[in-house]
Amino acid sequence: MKAVILVGGFGTRLHPLTRNVPKQMLPVVDRPMIEHVVAHLAAHGVTRVVLSLGFRPEAFSDAYPDGICAGIPVHYAVEPEPLDTAGAVRFAALAAGIRPGNEPASSAGSADDVSDTFLVLNGDVLTDLNVTAMVAGHRAAGAEATLALTEVDDPSRYGVVPTDAEGRVLGFVEKPDAASAPSRWINAGTYVLEPSILERIPAGRRVSIEREVFPAMAAEGSLHAVQSDVYWIDTGTPEAYIRAQLDLVDGTRGDLPAVHPSATVDPSADVQRSIVMAGATVGPGAQLLNSIVMDAATVGAGAMVVHSIVGPGAHVGEGASLTDLTVIGESESVGAGVELTGARVPGDS
Ligand code: GDD
Ligand code: MG
Repeated sequence: MKAVILVGGFGTRLHPLTRNVPKQMLPVVDRPMIEHVVAHLAAHGVTRVVLSLGFRPEAFSDAYPDGICAGIPVHYAVEPEPLDTAGAVRFAALAAGIRPGNEPASSAGSADDVSDTFLVLNGDVLTDLNVTAMVAGHRAAGAEATLALTEVDDPSRYGVVPTDAEGRVLGFVEKPDAASAPSRWINAGTYVLEPSILERIPAGRRVSIEREVFPAMAAEGSLHAVQSDVYWIDTGTPEAYIRAQLDLVDGTRGDLPAVHPSATVDPSADVQRSIVMAGATVGPGAQLLNSIVMDAATVGAGAMVVHSIVGPGAHVGEGASLTDLTVIGESESVGAGVELTGARVPGDS
């Protein structure tokens, strides 16, 4: 089965980390986020991945020059301009030889050109979703499109998806006001789709799958969903990007080493619930709590980093204090003794 992974967004909520790097190429503990996503798909029998690219596509092709990511072949579909989520699905699926109607692309086409059921994923989601079972359910129901749903406390940041007892989607409301959200079950960003869905996506303009295609299908009763309570996180905010990584080292979802073997942490530093990546240095008496210190960053003596992110190669001066989701961009410097709360360095200008 083929999977289209949407990785073309600007990652604005993770600025400045994503000013030059797509969020799916940011590290998640020990490797780029995209490798976690692809490895999960490979474990569920996906044999070919199409990366739907827009912003900084070369970040992916440079990282996987032989076209192999997490052990499986990846194809790059680079949009000429951002097409939004449905436009991106259409563009990438056609580029991968998926055709509506289950017909061969042409009489000269290879067997690979015969279209089939395919997967679409939001590339910033980490989950243990049982994709195999989801595909089986989709086929058993004879659905044209099946969405995975997960339950959250605050649905207003997501696509909210009320269903009936049989899993038929009754509506699809992208990012409703918290008060008006019709359900706490939200679009988890994994879709099983029949190629006929491509006929529902107009060519030549931006089309949102969440605001246009799915609401129309829900209104006609042709959209199916399955609820799941397994691990799920959208990593697209600093808070979630920190939590997704801590979950992989604290036993919630994994036991990866929190401090990379090539990092240097002074024995007098106090490191709690934090990740220190390759080549980073944490000085004497420094304190880290619920934080990420990225590759080759340095945290000076006596500095305090709480619930914050120090970007690659960035420097936090002696005695400085970063708290409350402060994010320091790549190679930036925070002066000695400076106190930052909820800051982004540099800020968006
Ligand atoms: N190729 C391409 N082109 N990719 C895009 C584009 C585009 O124009 N716009 C966004 N993407 C990619 C992003 O890189 C990301 O991987 C994915 O599409 C989803 O975009 P986000 O910006 O992360 O959306 P969101 O988190 O606000 O909301 C989406 O995800 C939620 C679950 O995590 C929606 O699908 C919601 O309905 C859903 O609940
Ligand atoms: Mg997201």
